[in-house]
Amino acid sequence: MEQVRHRVVLVGPMASGKSAVGRALAQRMGARFIDSDRVIAERFGSISALFAREGEQSFRALEAGVVRKTLAHDDVVVSLGGGAVLHPGTRELLATATVVFLDTDIATVMPRILRDTGRPLLAERPAERWQELYDERRPLYASIASVTVDTRGRSVPEVTDAVLQALARNQRTLRDGVAAGSTHQNDESGTSPHAD
Ligand code: S3P
Repeated sequence: MEQVRHRVVLVGPMASGKSAVGRALAQRMGARFIDSDRVIAERFGSISALFAREGEQSFRALEAGVVRKTLAHDDVVVSLGGGAVLHPGTRELLATATVVFLDTDIATVMPRILRDTGRPLLAERPAERWQELYDERRPLYASIASVTVDTRGRSVPEVTDAVLQALARNQRTLRDGVAAGSTHQNDESGTSPHAD
C-alpha cells in the first residue's frame, strides 16, 4: 500500500469506531496514533467530570487547543471526539489534513453507547440524543471529509481496509486532477479535493 498521507484525521459521530480504527490505521501506516479524547482525559481528568465541572463550552475550548497541538505533528493518525468539528478553528485546521469521516447509524452504535456510559451528552435518552446529534452534525462531517467510509456491518479490520483503499483512491484522484488541471467534488463515494 502506498504511503497515503502524513496527517490523517478521523471524524464522525460518537461510537463510530474512530479510536479503534485510528489505532489500527496508524499501525498499518507506520504512523503515530493520537486520540484527542484520551489526551484531554489524561491532562484534565475524565470527560464526564470535565463536562460536569466546567460545562460543554469550556470543554470545547480545551478540546480545540488539544486538537491544534495534535495536528502540529506529522506522520500521525488522530481520532477526534465527535463534537470537535463544531469549533470553526478546528475545521479550518482540518483543511490542512486528510479527513476521514466514519459514517454509521444508530443500530450499529447502540450496543456501544449502552455499554460505555462515559459520554455526558448521552447520559439521558442515549439513542434519541445520538440520533439528534448525528442529524445536526452529519452535514459538517460530510463537508470537511476528504473521504467517507460506511462502517455499518463492518469489523475494525474491515473498516481499516476500506479506509486505506479510500485514501489510496483519493490520492490517485487528486494526482490525476492536478495533472488534468481540474478539481473534484466529494460525492461521498470516496474522494474529494479536501486533502492535499
Ligand atoms: C462528544 C464525543 C465524545 C467526547 C465527548 C463529546 C461529542 O467522543 O469527546 O463526550 O460531542 O460528540 P467520542 O466521539 O469519541 O465518543
